[in-house]
Amino acid sequence: MILKKIENRSAHAGVIGLGYVGLPLMVAIASAGFRVTGIDICPHKIAQLKRGISHVPDVTNAVLGPLIASGQIQVTTDYAVLHELDTVNICVPTPLRENRTPDMQFITAAVEQVAHHLHTEQLIVLESTTYPGATQEIVLPLLKAHFRRTEGARPAQVGRDFYLAFSPERIEPGNSTYFVTNTPKIIGGVTPQCTHVAKTFYEQFINKTHTVSSPRTAEMVKLLENTFRSVNIGLINEIALICDRMDLDVWEVIDAAATKPFGFMPFYPGPGLGGHCIPIDPHYLSWKARMYEYHARFIELASEINNEMPKYVVDKIVHALDLQRKSVEGTQLLILGVAYKKDVGDIRESPALEVIRLILDKKAKFLYHDPYVETLSLDKQKTYRSEPLTPALVQNADCVVILTDHSAINYQWLVEHAQLVVDTRNATHTVQHGREKIVRI
Ligand SMILES: NC(=O)c1ccc[n+]([C@@H]2O[C@H](COP(=O)([O-])OP(=O)(O)OC[C@H]3O[C@@H](n4cnc5c(N)ncnc54)[C@H](O)[C@@H]3O)[C@@H](O)[C@H]2O)c1
Repeated sequence: MILKKIENRSAHAGVIGLGYVGLPLMVAIASAGFRVTGIDICPHKIAQLKRGISHVPDVTNAVLGPLIASGQIQVTTDYAVLHELDTVNICVPTPLRENRTPDMQFITAAVEQVAHHLHTEQLIVLESTTYPGATQEIVLPLLKAHFRRTEGARPAQVGRDFYLAFSPERIEPGNSTYFVTNTPKIIGGVTPQCTHVAKTFYEQFINKTHTVSSPRTAEMVKLLENTFRSVNIGLINEIALICDRMDLDVWEVIDAAATKPFGFMPFYPGPGLGGHCIPIDPHYLSWKARMYEYHARFIELASEINNEMPKYVVDKIVHALDLQRKSVEGTQLLILGVAYKKDVGDIRESPALEVIRLILDKKAKFLYHDPYVETLSLDKQKTYRSEPLTPALVQNADCVVILTDHSAINYQWLVEHAQLVVDTRNATHTVQHGREKIVRI
């Protein structure tokens, strides 16, 4: 019955957690013709969404508005709607605790609600990134414990009474080439029937699916992908540190190496890791590996090197100012870009925050400009506002520090007006005039 409802798209779909992952997913499901209800605990987000206003850059109001207005998408903070839903995708945060262990409270809270309303033939899919085993060790027992079969009293059986799978979200915010519907979807169900039902669901709105033998495998796939990035960024940051000592241009080295048509993939150095995934997810794996008495050395080492990059950037700033016979104390810096990567407004885990903390420790003053980040709160104490990028703003700064290489900036113009530029992203690579003012990592 659920399969038929999915195939003829009369199934009522649900998405829990309407952030960077959940909101685009909800729109993709609705765009395939399903009625979708989104649930989020944040009343402010729900109020905005009800008015057709998106808080995620990858979803425009032009796309969201009509889906809300027509009722194809409904949003609520009320979990009671769960009993009407045929499918539920869970996209809540999975941060780290202070001690770098997985913080599963959001998953647990969401799943407890799902479990409370779980009904026959419902499909539950966890999309939040997590450690191998979480779906079966945390989600499944909660669902089973709460399941109340309406007919008879035999214990609930996954794969027969309800379906459970893990399918990691792989989107990259701001990527206009690959998005929800054209990024292949990995699916691992608890039983073959769970995988089949989940695959049938995703096939309605995603071009390509790839099934694996278990949720644990699917969880591991996601962590491999993100660990691959973290370790390779750590490696290239280390190469940058070595090149700096050897007075070699790391950017030239990478570009030349990238001409090799096989066996090399370019990664680029920068001020450190940012975003909600790469700095965090590998620690889910190293935490789980410790239970198997394995110390994940690559993960820890990459994290150590990546975490040192903000300090390296500050050392570069201090040194560049030194050469101009200026002390960092009391100097006026202009931070260009505070988002963790280009062309997005996401500042979660952004290395800019650490760079700013470090320069404030050195008693430098700073202003910032970021076309995507209007305000910036530091340690919940002080709020800064993005300054308009005027010639005076640039000229008055003793040093402009490029921390994010947003495409909207005219870097030639910037360098022409600047006294000194520290470029951590090679954003100025095409600049012709004034190169002597640029210091790159
Ligand atoms: N952002 C990315 O690029 C990305 C990519 C792939 C995977 N992921 C993973 O997807 C998951 C979600 O990430 P995100 O970036 O969308 O997070 P987010 O913070 O942007 O969104 C999460 C949403 O969940 C809501 N929420 C929290 N607890 C809830 C609950 N109990 N019930 C209902 N709603 C709840 C929050 O209010 C928020 O709106 C994480 O596990 C993340 O690691 C993120």
